[in-house]
Amino acid sequence: MSKSADRAYDLVVFGATSFVGQILTRYLFDTYKIGKSVKWAIAGRSAEKLAVLKETLGGKAAELPVILADATDGKALQSMCEEARVVVSTVGPYALYGETLVRECVRTGTDYCDLTGEVQWIRKMVDSYEDEAKASGARIVHCCGFDSIPSDMGVWFLQGEAEKLFGMPCRDVRMRVKVAKGAFSGGTVASMINIAKEVGANPGLRKELANPFSICPPDDRPKARQPNLKSAEFDKTFNVWLAPFVMGAINTRIVHRSNALQNAPYGRDFTYDEAMMTGTGIKGRLAAYGVIGGLGAFLAGSAIKPTRWIIEKLVPKPGEGPSPEAQDSGFYDLRFVGRTADGKTMITKVTGDKDPGYGSTGKMLGEAAMCLAFDVPADHPGGFWTPASLLGASLMDRLTSKAGLTFDVLETR
Ligand SMILES: NC(=O)c1ccc[n+]([C@@H]2O[C@H](COP(=O)([O-])OP(=O)(O)OC[C@H]3O[C@@H](n4cnc5c(N)ncnc54)[C@H](OP(=O)(O)O)[C@@H]3O)[C@@H](O)[C@H]2O)c1
Repeated sequence: MSKSADRAYDLVVFGATSFVGQILTRYLFDTYKIGKSVKWAIAGRSAEKLAVLKETLGGKAAELPVILADATDGKALQSMCEEARVVVSTVGPYALYGETLVRECVRTGTDYCDLTGEVQWIRKMVDSYEDEAKASGARIVHCCGFDSIPSDMGVWFLQGEAEKLFGMPCRDVRMRVKVAKGAFSGGTVASMINIAKEVGANPGLRKELANPFSICPPDDRPKARQPNLKSAEFDKTFNVWLAPFVMGAINTRIVHRSNALQNAPYGRDFTYDEAMMTGTGIKGRLAAYGVIGGLGAFLAGSAIKPTRWIIEKLVPKPGEGPSPEAQDSGFYDLRFVGRTADGKTMITKVTGDKDPGYGSTGKMLGEAAMCLAFDVPADHPGGFWTPASLLGASLMDRLTSKAGLTFDVLETR
């Protein structure tokens, strides 16, 4: 049981009406019900939308308590936080709407988790509020969706297995996306466009974002040179072509922060990178160049006004996202290749059912929030943690028993 046991709710879902917030709310409703062991409520800025959501859920959802708060209203957020042991937020882009809630969670000693993948915003939150979070005891955990739980927990799992089998961690780990079948929602695209916009307006930010240790504590930034795939490359382990993986820009930073916060169990010379497999032969090579071209065009186009306007017309709008059928038919399969300093190799696999960014993300975020509410000891220090560094083994149990993820060792040599 976490601290603040006297608060009305174990969990409040802020942004329950967002595209992913509705998936999360449905997951909590189906899994934890209403009026049972978990006391929870939904929150957002629109009473009408929240009422429609309860109606859509049907049955006992009519009894689900509702809290009204705008993301810019510090007073309303403060009283929401004072009623909750944990707040989980899907109100994004977080760089635009997220800071006031983080501030109020920190001030009221309320635990918090979210889905941001915005490195520059995480850096800003840590710089602004980490000391206060340590003092109040609030545990803040960003990146509790597809970015970055499968990567962060995937490395945590591989390193635990390597310690058991080899007696040492892997110095170098590579994550390769074998399959990720899914789509983007309007909120995710809006967050990506906002990052490109911020970089366009502040060239110094590009340098900060390019730093693999950008969200590590400033006095604990390792020097180990990190691989950085920028072009198509042939992968000899899997005999396929590789392209950069768009989520690698956040996942790698979270994995390094996890290592730093745990006093470097992966080693101080640990290296990590991510890429996606695009196939074999000439088709695979061309597909890799296609990914690089598409990504480059999106980022360059989003950085400046005239082309950003066109991109915004073409992509999903806030509130839109993949259909329920597309979410159900989605899945992902990630491969991790670890090598120890003395040349031993381990290959592991992480899979998830449903669309990575939505069906699976809703479940991962829900279980991360449950972990904060029920598994993390009350006296565990406050601060800005990562999924692996704070939630570790209990999150692993929840992901595999409830959220449809698998973690397996495939090969060791
Ligand atoms: N890490 C991952 O794997 C992952 C996966 C999916 C999404 N995400 C991130 O999650 C976030 C949500 O994505 P989405 O597609 O669900 O977004 P969305 O559908 O566009 O929803 C945005 C939400 O923000 C709320 N909002 C906006 N301004 C507000 C304000 N001033 N006060 C209160 N609420 C406000 C909206 O409220 P209304 O409903 O009242 O309009 C809506 O609920 C995005 O930042 C996205 O990047 C991350």
